[in-house]
Parts: sequence; structure tokens; C-alpha cells
Amino acid sequence: MVSPEKRGGSPTEGMGGPSGARREVRWESAVPTWGDKTYPVRPSDQEVRIYSEHFRQLGHRKEHAGGEGVVVLLGSTPELRSALASLNNEHLRVLAAERYEKSFDAMTKLMASELARRERESGKFQLVLTKWQELPLKKESADLVVGDLVLNIVFKDEKGIDTTSQEHIQEQRLVLDGIKKSLKDGGKAILRTWVVPPEMRQSDTYRDIDDVFYEWEKFKAARNLQLDLNDPKYRKEVFGFFANRLIRHYQDDSGKFVCRDMADRIERGMDRDGRQVEFPDGVNEVMSWQWKDYTIPNWVLPQEDQENIMRERFKIERLTTADDLSDMNPMYVLSK
Ligand SMILES: C[S@@+](CC[C@H](N)C(=O)[O-])C[C@H]1O[C@@H](n2cnc3c(N)ncnc32)[C@H](O)[C@@H]1O
Repeated sequence: MVSPEKRGGSPTEGMGGPSGARREVRWESAVPTWGDKTYPVRPSDQEVRIYSEHFRQLGHRKEHAGGEGVVVLLGSTPELRSALASLNNEHLRVLAAERYEKSFDAMTKLMASELARRERESGKFQLVLTKWQELPLKKESADLVVGDLVLNIVFKDEKGIDTTSQEHIQEQRLVLDGIKKSLKDGGKAILRTWVVPPEMRQSDTYRDIDDVFYEWEKFKAARNLQLDLNDPKYRKEVFGFFANRLIRHYQDDSGKFVCRDMADRIERGMDRDGRQVEFPDGVNEVMSWQWKDYTIPNWVLPQEDQENIMRERFKIERLTTADDLSDMNPMYVLSK
């Protein structure tokens, strides 16, 4: 499985460090192909149902109380906007906090045209062009703040690739501060967030390939997957499994935080010594198919560290779905 002749760079290559200019994150190159991405990068149907249930309950409560519920979306996530538009509840007002209008427009194209039209014509939906770190919302104005894999991609000055973990965490704190300030008493935030669960070994720069394939064989059997690279379902399952498991770990100077740089490595499987790995079952091909034009690094902290950062400001409840992959991207429900 491993071809030893091809070696990669050092484990911390491209991540932080004192040298070199910081490289920019370019959302314009990532968002136009968002339609090709699948779970876990986009929420699963099951996760969308959980978000939707919170939207529905809020709408229902407000309808009975005769008021209006305010939902803030961090980003332009088409699945969440579609869920809100399909509720068609005039007691819900939605603010989408998104930095780039172009990204927003590209994401709108991924909604069913009927739902995009309903959103546009409802008079209840507003795009707020802003960084998540600087949410321009009134104090205690929101009932629900929702962000799908948002905390993993906040970077100082958009210089994501060379952001250090301490800088990244500082940006997370700015986002969490803004959420806390804008939430009403009794309000909630739901943030699906990538984490490294404790059972994954954090001292390695890469997980043990054999462990991953042992799990893959079980997963394949449990889902009755047949190798067929032309089958979108097969490709989707491969991506979902390996995006969550083929993780490159980095440790910062303190050795404490571990993160991952999916963009750089995942399409070319690399083992923990930086050797390239030819995976069976078409895995390399599937990974590069979804990942080739995605240049955004994702920061993934150990679960405990991520939860401690949330706990500085919120009480947290951690939800995993019945999906066997969701231990790495739980939905966190936060309350003040
Ligand atoms: C590709 S999505 C992934 C995040 C989320 N899952 C979503 O569906 O919106 C990222 C979107 O968030 C926007 N974005 C990225 N970083 C941001 C930030 N710090 N503040 C506001 N918007 C940001 C990008 O323009 C892009 O549209």
C-alpha cells in the first residue's frame, strides 16, 4: 500500500512558523465548486433535519407569542437557507452573515430555484456583509445563531494557511464573543464543528494507515458498499469516510494543539512519515476529485480543547447523529 520512494515535506510544512509571507485564503476558488462537495464538508440530511427542527420550534413559539424570531446564519449555507425557506414562517426573520457577495450568490445557485425565490420574496431574509469575527448585530437581538463548520475556518486577516494555532483560537474567541453578545437571554447557538475525538491518537503527525483501513473494511461491509467509481453514492461514502479519517496532525510550538491541513495533503494520501500511499478502492481518485480546487485549510482542535474554548463563554451540549462518522463533526448546542 505504501510507496516509500515518494516523501513529503516536514509535518509542519505550510503551517505557521516565523518564515515567509503569509498566504491568502481564496474563497472565490472554493465556493464555485461547492456543489461537488458532499458530507462531511456539507451537512448531511440528518444534520439538516436537526437544524430544521430548531428553526421550526422557534417559528412555532413566536407564532403563538405573536412575535418574531431572529435567526442568524454564519455563512450562506444553501441547506440551511433552503430549510428556512421551506418553513415559510412569517414569524422568522433571517440574517445571513457572509463576507463576500460573490460567495453568497454562488451558494444561492445551489438552492432549488423555488426556495431561492421564496427566500428573496419573503421580505424576511437579509444578507449582512461582514466577517464573523466582527458581527455587527445589536446586543441581545438574536434567538438562534447557526454555523456549519464555521469555527474551523476563521483566520487572522484571511492569511489562513500560515495562521498559527494561537491566532486561530483568538479568531474563534472573537466569533464566540460576537455570538454571545448578540444572543438574547434563552437564545442558543448551534455550531457543527470539526474536532479530533480523544480516541484518535494526537501525538502522530498522521494516523496509522492500517487502523484507518481496518475501520474502512468494517464500514464498507456495514454499508454494503461495492467498488464503483462511477456511482456517486460510492464516491460520496468514500469521501465522507476518508475526509474524516485521513488526517494530518500538526502540533504547535507548545505541543498542545493539533490541527489539520486537508487541502495540502488529503488528495494525495500520505502516511505519518510523509510517504505517499496508494489506497485501494479508488480512494486517491475520489479524494482528489472533491479536493483538487479546495485550497482552504481547516483547523481541527482536539475535542477537549475545542470544548474548553466554547465553555469559556457558554454552556455546551454535544450532539452526534446516528451517522457513524459524526463523532468528528458533532453539532454543539450552546446556551449562555
Ligand atoms: C464555503 S463556506 C463554508 C462555511 C459554511 N459551511 C457555509 O456553508 O457557509 C464558507 C463561506 O463563508 C464565507 N466566509 C469564510 N470566512 C468568513 C469569515 N471569517 N467571515 C464571514 N464569512 C466568511 C465564505 O465567503 C464562504 O461563502
